[in-house]
Order: sequence, then C-alpha cells, then structure tokens
Amino acid sequence: MKHALVIGGSGMLAGTVLWLAEVGYHVSIIGRDAENMSRLTEQSPGRLFAVLVDYRDDLRLKEALRRSMAIHGDFDLVVAWIHSDAADALPCVLSVLRGGTDVFHVLGSRSNSSDVRNGLTIPEDVRYHQVQLGYQVEKGERRWLTHEEIAGGVVEAVQEKKPLYSVGFTSK
Ligand SMILES: NC(=O)c1ccc[n+]([C@@H]2O[C@H](COP(=O)([O-])OP(=O)(O)OC[C@H]3O[C@@H](n4cnc5c(N)ncnc54)[C@H](OP(=O)(O)O)[C@@H]3O)[C@@H](O)[C@H]2O)c1
Repeated sequence: MKHALVIGGSGMLAGTVLWLAEVGYHVSIIGRDAENMSRLTEQSPGRLFAVLVDYRDDLRLKEALRRSMAIHGDFDLVVAWIHSDAADALPCVLSVLRGGTDVFHVLGSRSNSSDVRNGLTIPEDVRYHQVQLGYQVEKGERRWLTHEEIAGGVVEAVQEKKPLYSVGFTSK
C-alpha cells in the first residue's frame, strides 16, 4: 500500500487526510495533541497513524519519520503545512526521502512562493509542488477560506500535480 505523510494533518487538513485514506493510502499524520489526533485516526482505523512529535525538534522529527517509514514503507506523497517558526522542518523531511516522492508544500496567503522555493534544496528525485492558500469573495467581501475549502483545494492540488496551485483567489 502507498504511504503518505501529512504534516499538520490533524488541523485544517483533516479532510485531505481522510481523502488520502479513502483513495488507498496508509497516512502518517504529524501533530502534538494526542486527543485531537485520535478524534481523526479513529475515523479510519488501520489506515491513519498518529505521529505525535513537535516538528520544531529536528532530531525527534527525523526519528519519528524513520520509524514510520520502517513500519509502512517510504513516503510516496508528503503534504506539508508547517508554521514559520519551524524553518528546519521541511528540509529535515526532505533529507529522509528516498526518491520518487511528490511533496505538496502548503503556503499561507502571506508566503512568497518563489522565495520559499528558492530557499529550499530539493533533492533531484523529489517532485516539489506548492499550494498557495488565498481568500474567497462572498457578497463583495473578502473572507478566509474554510477548513473544507482548504482541505478540498489541497486534494485538487494533489490530483493536478502542478508546480504551483492556488486555492481561492490570491493576489498574484
Ligand atoms: N489563506 C487562508 O485562508 C488561511 C491560511 C492559513 C491559515 N488559515 C486559517 O488559520 C487557522 C489557523 O491555522 P493553523 O495552522 O492553526 O491551522 P490548523 O491546521 O488547524 O492547525 C495546525 C496543524 O499543525 C499541527 N502543528 C502545529 N504546530 C506543530 C508543531 N510544532 N509540531 C507538530 N505539529 C504541529 C497541529 O497539531 P497540534 O496542535 O496537535 O500540534 C495541527 O494539526 C486555520 O484554522 C485556517 O482556517 C487560513
């Protein structure tokens, strides 16, 4: 079975996690709050696996990823929603990948996708994609995306496999 990793998957990306399980992945999910995580993993037992680790701790993150790969195999797909206080987390994830992996890096509205891309060293055999979150317009007013819109947009990005996919409207 294919193995996906979703970093920050117990929050707004829960819908993406459940879709990945539905289409046949074993999904390892990174988060810290065990209770919140089990509310998600119990929705698809045997398919969803909690990886309870603080992604700001490189050493523990690497250990947790290696453990997860030893159990379920190399990652075929990674979806990464990582806060800006953990600049080393994605490089750490990229360093353990063994090749042929599609990585979908979810970026907030304020991130500059080119700067982010240029700041990363992407291994040759990793296919790196970005998903930029934007906003919606309702009755002439801008509003933030809902969790469902974000999770669904990430699913579309995974299906389309473009280098840069926008969810909602972005200023670019
Ligand atoms: N353009 C937009 O529309 C846009 C863009 C970005 C965000 N937002 C909104 O902003 C809200 C807040 O964003 P959020 O990032 O809090 O969303 P979130 O996805 O609901 O929560 C963050 C996720 O990352 C995990 N996480 C956070 N820090 C971690 C760490 N150090 N180590 C491991 N896992 C960690 C959390 O799990 P644990 O808490 O268990 O660690 C959770 O799964 C969202 O609800 C979203 O609606 C909107």
